[in-house]
Order: sequence, then C-alpha cells, then structure tokens
Amino acid sequence: MAAATPKLDHHWLPFTPNRDFHDEPKLFSRAEGVHYYTPDGRAVLDGCSGLFTSPIGHGRKDIAEAVYKQLLELDFVSSFQRSHPKAFEAAERVANLTPEGIDKVFFCNSGSEAVDTAMKIAMAYHRARGQSSRTMFVSRERAYHGVGFGGVALSGLVNNRRTFGPGLPNAVHMRHTHGAERFVMGEPETGADLAEDLLRIVQLHGAENIAACFVEPIAGSTGMLVPPKGYLKRLREICSANGILLVFDEVITGFGRTGKAFASQSFGVKPDIITMAKAITNGVQPMSAVAVDNSVYKTIVEDSPNPRAANEFFHGYTWSAHPAACAAAIATIDIYEKERLFERASQMSAYFLEGLISLKDIPIVTDIRGYGMAGGIDVAPTQIPGERGHILQKKLYDNGLHIKTTGDTGILAPPFVMTTDHIDQMIEISRKTLTAL
Ligand SMILES: Cc1ncc(COP(=O)(O)O)c(C=O)c1O
Repeated sequence: MAAATPKLDHHWLPFTPNRDFHDEPKLFSRAEGVHYYTPDGRAVLDGCSGLFTSPIGHGRKDIAEAVYKQLLELDFVSSFQRSHPKAFEAAERVANLTPEGIDKVFFCNSGSEAVDTAMKIAMAYHRARGQSSRTMFVSRERAYHGVGFGGVALSGLVNNRRTFGPGLPNAVHMRHTHGAERFVMGEPETGADLAEDLLRIVQLHGAENIAACFVEPIAGSTGMLVPPKGYLKRLREICSANGILLVFDEVITGFGRTGKAFASQSFGVKPDIITMAKAITNGVQPMSAVAVDNSVYKTIVEDSPNPRAANEFFHGYTWSAHPAACAAAIATIDIYEKERLFERASQMSAYFLEGLISLKDIPIVTDIRGYGMAGGIDVAPTQIPGERGHILQKKLYDNGLHIKTTGDTGILAPPFVMTTDHIDQMIEISRKTLTAL
C-alpha cells in the first residue's frame, strides 16, 4: 500500500524548483547500504553517495552508535574558551590523513563555512605578516565554493551569483579547464597552459594585493571537470613564486573520492590550505574542516604579538567541533581505515569509469568525464538550459537511480562499497533512461 505523502506546505527546499517538486514530490524515507527507499518501499540505488557525503553507504550502526553514546555522555560544549577530548582526537585523525605539514584543523559545520573560514585565514595570515594589502582572491569560472557571500564571490556559476551582487568585491576568475578534449577519462593531456591565467592576474593586479587562489582540484558541482595534466602543479609554482596561498577546496574530493585521502595526494600537489566537508562524517552529522599548513597557523597563532589572553583569530561557530560531529568523524575515519575504503575506491574506479564511458554512443550525450569514483555526463540542452538535466534526474529516480544534476550535467559518485553488480545496475539504468530521454 502506498504511504501517504506528507503535507508539503511549509518546507522550502534549497536548490530545488519548489513548484515542480510539489507537483511530483521525490521523497526517500529510509536508507540502508547503497540504497534509498521511497515511502512506498521502492529501492533506489544511491549513485551519488547521498550528495557525495556517504561513501561508506547508509545506516552504518558503528557511526550511529558512536553519535548516540556521545550525546548521552556530552551533548554540547562551546568551542569558545572550552573544548572536549573528542575535538582534539577528531582533529588529529583528520591531520593524519592530510598531506604532511598540513596539521592544524579548524572545525566548522558546512562546506560554505569552511570556504569562508579559509578566506579569513588567508587574510589573517597576510595581515600577521605585515602584508594587509593582500585582500584579493582568485578562483575560477565554473567553480562552486558554497553559498556564503565569500563563497559566492569565488563561485563561477552565474545562477548562484546574479541575484546577490558581487559578494566580496575583490574576487577575480581564471578560465575553467573544460576544454576541447571530450570523452576523456582521467586527466586531459591539454590545457595546463590555462594556469597561466593566474600569472596574468598577478601581472594585472600585483602579487602584493592577492591573498589566495582557490580551486577545487576537480571542479565537482559543475560536473567533474578533471584538471589537465600539469595544471595544478603550475598553479602551485605561480602561487609560491608570488607569496599567494593556494587553497584546495576538497569538499567533494576529500576522503577517498579520488582514490587517496585527498585529491592533493592523487595529483601530487600540496596546497597551503584544504577545505573539506561532505564525507568527513559519512553524512551522518553536519561537519566541515579547514586544514592549514603549520607555517600558516604559526604565523597567525604562535607568533601573535598580542597578549596571551587575546584571541589570535576572531572567528568561529557555535557548533564548531560539536561533540556528536566529532564522534561521527572519528567513527567514520575508523571505518575508512579498517575497511581500507580509499584503496577500494582506487580499485573500483577503473570498472566504474569504464561503465560510464560506455554510455558515449547515446545520441543526446555530448561529453563524459571522470576520475576516481566520480564522473560527469553532459546531455544536449533543450531550448531551456537545464531542463533536460532536470528531467533526467526525475526519470532516473523513477527508474531506480539517485544522482545529482547541475544544469544539463548528471554527476555520478557512487559509494565506495558498491560491488561491480551495483555499478552494472547503475550503468544499465542510466543507459535506459538516457536513451528514452
Ligand atoms: C567544492 C565545494 N565547496 C563548497 C561547497 C558547499 O558546501 P555546503 O553545501 O556544505 O555548504 C560544496 C558543496 O557542494 C562544494 O562542492
């Protein structure tokens, strides 16, 4: 018997065409393993790890129990002037995964907060070095850095910007890296020269005015734009030569998505700051973090000229390092390590990417890209940009597959615990749906 649809009058859904949703609500009421279940009990394969959040799959008892136990023991403590043991333990566990020397961890609650925090850390760092003219930020077209006014200024998605003004005025954008090469899995051979955009910006605005360059190592929300070979390395060189901090926004790529803990390690390029969020607690609790190179922390905190009783950094959130989130992060990292899930992601990647590229013969598919356990599929737009992508995600839901779409791009990012059978099913449902579109 079909379950009753709840009253839809009050919840305003984010990043959703609400009127259309009310016409055709797409609800999940339960999740287990790699499946969601609709209120009437139909299984839908989770082809996007929730929203890149849940690589371990859903309903893991060990994480739920860790949160439950934590809430009974210590449900809340402020992180201002107070803390609790699990905050330090969670930070240490994160620092053990980040590249060597990036060992200081500031906790927040969302990717957007992590990005805004990283922007403030960059400004505080330069100010502490006596270079307070460095207030400008460089990012990229087609970037997504969340929805805070800082993150919107960095973002390169017109719909996220056009209603809200410039946000921070001092943000300039390099070109994106989605180039002429189509249907390429892994790093494109051409396009590293696009990193020279950063040099042009330095030459135009002056290095002494630029605080940081923010990039997603793989631009995730716009459909997994994999960096061309040598591109990130060149950005690193230009930043180092000009005293600019390099920030990798690893909100999607962090925690194994590229086959290593961070994309920084997969691509062999070390930034100064890494933002992370989604998979840090397997999606169980809201949490994000900014991991900072020791030298940046030292400049702001240890070398502070202020009295020891004074804050070194005037920033933080009520729920920074929430005990339940810390417990969830520790339990999640335990599972990543015990079950060697980053290695599993690396091993499953070839099978997944082969499946994905096999869809290239479908007439409406105009490009497919991928790296690690994530990939993007572009479909030809109708007269209305984004309409076909929107229909695609609705039809996939009806046909038993959950993915994310942005405009006319579908994004698949399966849980690392999927089997080859699950991947086959995912590709089969995608083929059937794309062919009928
Ligand atoms: C790279 C990147 N940065 C920041 C964000 C914002 O994260 P949140 O939605 O948790 O604020 C996202 C979200 O998708 C993201 O992909």
